[in-house]
Amino acid sequence: MTDAIPDEINQYLDSFVPPRPAELQAMEADARKTGFPILGAASGQLCYLVARMIRARRVFEMGSGYGYSTAWFARAVQENGGGSVYHVVWDEELSRKAKKHLAALGYDGIVQYRVGEAVQALRETDGPFDLIFNDIDKDAYPDSLPVIAEKLRPGGVLIVDNLLWHGEVFDANNHTADTEGVREFTRLITTDPGWISSIVPIRDGVLVAYKKSEPA
Ligand SMILES: C[S@@+](CC[C@H](N)C(=O)[O-])C[C@H]1O[C@@H](n2cnc3c(N)ncnc32)[C@H](O)[C@@H]1O
Repeated sequence: MTDAIPDEINQYLDSFVPPRPAELQAMEADARKTGFPILGAASGQLCYLVARMIRARRVFEMGSGYGYSTAWFARAVQENGGGSVYHVVWDEELSRKAKKHLAALGYDGIVQYRVGEAVQALRETDGPFDLIFNDIDKDAYPDSLPVIAEKLRPGGVLIVDNLLWHGEVFDANNHTADTEGVREFTRLITTDPGWISSIVPIRDGVLVAYKKSEPA
């Protein structure tokens, strides 16, 4: 699937992300070769920026793949003084692969690994979290929101990938479960007075949402 944002814009934005460690570059090369849907450099940098800005120490990631997005959060948490980043994916093999990459990057002791369904894993893990990142299957986005809202601390930040969903959300004839999931999730979070949110049009659209600390 192609991104809603033209390639030349993505490449332009990626070109301003400072050089990454060799291991992270190897993860990017792996995605280019296999087509595995990682976040990409400019979106990774945005995640890192937000996590540094709010001084996040506890991050829960939903749908972590082989740990590319996790690496950006782990870097922020390490620089913020240490803490935990939960890596959650339902595929044992991807979890093993992530462990290898993230250990090579020096994030042993920060990343906690869970193999299983991510919304259920979040339900079962004690909060609160400073930051939650959501990149699971898109049809599951709407049902994940109440669990996220419960586990995020007031003043915490939610980041969600793929809100432009390869342009399929603009296609009035597209009613796949994933497209409808993205549409419904977007409607829910942008109309809920408990959140302040913005969709940043990097690559496939990254939502950044602040959970208000004052009563809605
Ligand atoms: C888009 S990829 C993740 C990429 C990763 N966030 C990154 O940018 O490097 C999503 C991954 O999460 C897994 N996944 C999707 N829905 C999930 C769910 N509900 N629970 C656990 N894993 C899930 C997929 O199988 C895939 O490996």
